[in-house]
Amino acid sequence: MVLVTGGCGYVGSHTVVELLQEGESVLVVDDLSNASKKSLERVRQITGKEVCFEQVDLKDAKALGKVFDKYCGKKAGDKIDTVIHFAAFKAVGESVKKPLEYYQNNTIGVINLLFCMQKHAIKNFVFSSSATVYGVPERCPIEETAGRSALSPYGATKIITEDILLDIAKADKDFSAILLRYFNPVGAHKSGLIGENPKGIPNNLMPYITGAAIGKLPPLKVFGGDYPTMDGTCVRDYIHIVDLAKGHIAALKKVRQQKGAVAYNLGTGKGLTVLQIIQAFEKSTGVSLPYTIVERREGDATECYASTTKAEQELAWKASLGVEDMCKDHYDWQVKNPNGYND
Ligand code: UD1
Repeated sequence: MVLVTGGCGYVGSHTVVELLQEGESVLVVDDLSNASKKSLERVRQITGKEVCFEQVDLKDAKALGKVFDKYCGKKAGDKIDTVIHFAAFKAVGESVKKPLEYYQNNTIGVINLLFCMQKHAIKNFVFSSSATVYGVPERCPIEETAGRSALSPYGATKIITEDILLDIAKADKDFSAILLRYFNPVGAHKSGLIGENPKGIPNNLMPYITGAAIGKLPPLKVFGGDYPTMDGTCVRDYIHIVDLAKGHIAALKKVRQQKGAVAYNLGTGKGLTVLQIIQAFEKSTGVSLPYTIVERREGDATECYASTTKAEQELAWKASLGVEDMCKDHYDWQVKNPNGYND
């Protein structure tokens, strides 16, 4: 059995679909602080399969311990052998305003989780890290060996968690961890049943675009038109959420075979500007997207895209969906669920 923390969220729910389709049994642990349990009903609709669910805040060590006892105890048939850890706060700007909450939630949670794993001798861990650990990249494509630096408390919590896992792997030769550094996940499942469900006004580009496209948000502001790129706007490596979820299946296979802690980039390796995303959105949906170019957003790197060689060679995984699928699928989800899961 695979324990998925944060399995009701955006990346979590898409990964649960892929896990179920691979025939894995899944236990989701989520505190529902920034996600809806409806996502799991939708997962059931897509896959025809059930998942176990426990509503627990990872900061509550006692409650978490009970979940492990229940699913790893003597009576438990299908025991947890691997943990995929998504549950964390993820808003960069909010982390700058509430650093303590971010450090508390994102580090105490994972420490409690790792103690439970230690108690039950569970050795396999897949961690949802982020390209944010590279800070402002020195060069692109970014290789996994590039230096890490935190530009926000959120980024710092990703680096701290990576370091915790690297240290455990040094101390326990049977421990196996894979650190997945996501670039910019966008899109939604083809069914339009699950997708991103941001609270309030989205900070990220694609949910803002789809919100503006259905008239729920004011027209898009493009942050900065004077960057040294082909059209003056920033370059990012957008990756379809289903490709990203499949990257976790590749990581699951690997984490069960290897020992030690290893990092992989999950991106397409292809950089696109904000204006290229707007064009791709208009082309794939037929919806016109008015925008204005405004001043730069503080803290944005000019360009950020992945080297995908290591993941291709060692995980045998490569993203296959293109930018038009990313735009169309994100838009379809938004049209079918204008208020996300909160209908
Ligand atoms: C952001 C986070 C990063 C996090 C990632 C995934 C920051 C500084 N970085 O990355 O740590 O891992 O999300 O959740 O917040 N843009 C606009 N108008 C908008 C929104 C965005 O022009 O309304 C531009 C941005 O300037 C950027 C690009 O679109 O060039 C992508 O932005 P975004 O989706 O926020 O992702 P990142 O900044 O790459």
